[in-house]
Amino acid sequence: MSATIDAPRPAHGIPPTGPRPDETARLEDFGGLEIADMDLSQPLTEAQRDRLLAMFKAHPVLVFRGQSLTKDQQYAFTLNFGEIEGAHVNRLIDAKNYAPVHTVSNLDSEGNPSEVLRERGNYYWHSDKSYHAVPSLLTMLHAVELPPKGGETQFANTAKAYAALPEADKVLVAGLRAIHSWEASRIQSNSRPATAEQMAERPPVDHPVVRTHPDTGAKVLYLGNHASHIVGRPVPDGQVLMRRLLAHATQAPFVYTHRWRQGDLVLWDNRCLVHRALPHEAMGTHRRVLHRTVVKGTVPY
Ligand SMILES: [Fe+2]
Repeated sequence: MSATIDAPRPAHGIPPTGPRPDETARLEDFGGLEIADMDLSQPLTEAQRDRLLAMFKAHPVLVFRGQSLTKDQQYAFTLNFGEIEGAHVNRLIDAKNYAPVHTVSNLDSEGNPSEVLRERGNYYWHSDKSYHAVPSLLTMLHAVELPPKGGETQFANTAKAYAALPEADKVLVAGLRAIHSWEASRIQSNSRPATAEQMAERPPVDHPVVRTHPDTGAKVLYLGNHASHIVGRPVPDGQVLMRRLLAHATQAPFVYTHRWRQGDLVLWDNRCLVHRALPHEAMGTHRRVLHRTVVKGTVPY
């Protein structure tokens, strides 16, 4: 007689869904670009800034190698793209994190690595701040401390995903609007529930399920963990549709997996990508610390 033994569940509780890193596209096939010859710690010349903005228009992910930026330098670099948004995810409960250069980590309140994550949302596919009426344009992360194994960031190209939708689905989603909310984001990532104060501060918003990229004109699926259901449709039906679209959009051919190296600064376009972090090995032992800045975008249409 044999007994079935369940595999131990990791304490972080993040389900192993979506493509494995080794199944996903290379950076260049994904449309990204690696840049090795810029020092982002110094003020950019006008020509360098023009080059930077042109690269960002043409590539939804830019990977800068070998950087070493203080928080002030990252702040100054981010300003090249526009207005910086403060990270007020935890403003009401964690005031020290309310900063324009925010720290993303697996550290607990004592500063020690923890497998029991305080925030899980980063580990679910999402587009940053889509729960705002005016969501973000881009986000950048600068690697400060990296674990030996795992902790990659994955990006899925939702313009390519829209283009690959069957014609019947393009007809189905045309004109639909989805509800995005902080409350739904917390529920769907199995995180601490939103407080009444947070919900009042951040009421639900709605955005087109298919938005038009302001620079490229491409149609893009706009979805992710902050989105829950469809305006004017029964909630369960909308949830099923949004989950199906997200599963379509995050298939391996649409995904690039960034394996972090010390000194990397990666920035990406939230208007045509969803992204997530992957848990790393022995999260209770190894630290993963990145500095994050976000630039405000425009109202999706
Ligand atoms: Fe994010």
